[in-house]
Amino acid sequence: MHNIGSYDERIQGFSWEIAERELDYQPGNVINIGWYITDRICQMGKGDKLALIWEGLGGKEKRYTYNDIRQLSNTIGQFLRDLGIQPEQRVCLFLDRIPELYIGFAGIIKTGAIAQPLFSAFGDESLLVRLENAETTAVITQKKHVGKIRKILDKLPHLKHIIIVDDNGKSPLQEREVAFNMEEAARVDQFEIQPTLAESPSVLHYTSGTTGMPKGVKHVHCSLISQYLTTSWVLDLKDDDIYWCTADPGWVTGTSYGIIGAWAMGVTQCVSDVGFSAETWYKFIERHRITVWYSAPTAIRSLMKAGDELVRQFDLSSLRHLASVGEPLNAEAVIWSNKVFGLMFHDSYWQTETGSIMISNYPGMKIKPGSMGKPFPGVTGAVVDPETYEQIQETGKIGLIAFRPGWPAMMRMYWNNEATYKGKFKNGWYIPGDRAYIDQDGYFWFVGRDDDIINTGGHLVSPFEVESALLEHPAVAESAVVAKPDFVNMEVVKAFVCLKPGYVASDELELEIMNFIRKKLSPLAMPQDIEYVPNLPKTRSGKIMRRVLKAKEWGEEIGDTSTLEDD
Ligand code: PRX
Repeated sequence: MHNIGSYDERIQGFSWEIAERELDYQPGNVINIGWYITDRICQMGKGDKLALIWEGLGGKEKRYTYNDIRQLSNTIGQFLRDLGIQPEQRVCLFLDRIPELYIGFAGIIKTGAIAQPLFSAFGDESLLVRLENAETTAVITQKKHVGKIRKILDKLPHLKHIIIVDDNGKSPLQEREVAFNMEEAARVDQFEIQPTLAESPSVLHYTSGTTGMPKGVKHVHCSLISQYLTTSWVLDLKDDDIYWCTADPGWVTGTSYGIIGAWAMGVTQCVSDVGFSAETWYKFIERHRITVWYSAPTAIRSLMKAGDELVRQFDLSSLRHLASVGEPLNAEAVIWSNKVFGLMFHDSYWQTETGSIMISNYPGMKIKPGSMGKPFPGVTGAVVDPETYEQIQETGKIGLIAFRPGWPAMMRMYWNNEATYKGKFKNGWYIPGDRAYIDQDGYFWFVGRDDDIINTGGHLVSPFEVESALLEHPAVAESAVVAKPDFVNMEVVKAFVCLKPGYVASDELELEIMNFIRKKLSPLAMPQDIEYVPNLPKTRSGKIMRRVLKAKEWGEEIGDTSTLEDD
């Protein structure tokens, strides 16, 4: 029996009280996510149960019970408190997928501070804008990443502490740096958890904006209510499951469902810090007898590419439920997974801003391959007219996806950016910025984004950020960055570049520019293709028309170019 039972019945008389009851939470009472994902599970008698099975390079493996993660998160919390970290200050996790990332997340939250996870492959520029905007007080990091922080330290007066979790004492610590070794520190059994309330801030995730710098999405402690119930009903986790969420906690899937949801349900999670290859992934599933697997279309398409024969070399019979998020999941991928695993990937749709799954295919519900499914019970989803923001009643007509605000995990603000936050609400709807249509059975079909943001392998990249970084390269006079189609990543970053006088287009220069962006921003933001052009298409007011360049890449009609600048 699936946790959700019948989708149609759940829609009738839905109330978030279902989750509140299961969590023993009464509105108005203290709610601290850190407590819910560690102490509460121990209090339920599951202290000796495995919470985390971690694998790193070179066959390294570590295992932690719920009692371990309870005590270790206390230990980290106590260390932060002793440093003077105050509730609501931002503490950044700038770590590879090592146990300190997962347990540190709980530790930060227990103190009442706000956890700010950032992808460890970010370069110094990406890091700087996010730490600057959040006025982050402390960063927890590894020796190998500390150089990037030292480089920008001068520009970060708010950053008081750089906590290094793997310092070996070989080279001296520098200004504001302090060593903390989670495994060696004296374990703290009793810790006074900050009595946060429903609206107390918990997590700050950065997401790319279309025209400006990345936006900090502020979440609060009661997001747990949505994250818990969606984990139960969409991912269908049960007590004896071995769960694997492949997302990095630098992104929201890796926290909402790679830390919070599964631990709030007291389930055993596996984490791999080994990187992707089809063989390593299948081996991982086989070795740990993974039962529930939450992944992303890019990974699924890569597995498809690796072929059916490889799948047959592993015993993957433990798998019982598969789900996907982050980008459109093509029908072919769903059909393929059914062929090779005997299970269909269940697509789910949501955003950093929504904090939890909004539209999904549910266990037991008929899947239409290629469709995102239906709104989560308790979420009112619609498609609205892009001009009037009135709900479109007509079946199959494309409009903007819209949700009625009110689910617990919804963002509460863009950090220091109220105007942009307010701009996301129209006519009583929250508008995520995606286009879709609804079919005669109420299933949502994704059509595309309503802006220029590039979705590469499930990660959003802002063309604006890449263009700004490109301008810092001495050879670049001007650039336009657009999405280019790609089988595996769906989209990759392509840059059209006008060179400054005196620079000559060459393959070496292309490589140099690519590398420049990779280091400054991240491997994801690095253009996979650079095309040198003498000039860029612009509107009469001088705005670059990315739309024209993108249409060419995708072999689409260019559309209205009446505002295009005359040659
Ligand atoms: O454009 C949609 C796409 O990813 C965006 C959200 O990205 P982010 O905030 O990074 O969160 C990703 C993980 C929750 C959406 O606005 N997206 C997400 N899921 C899907 C999707 N596009 C198509 N199908 C999906 N299932």
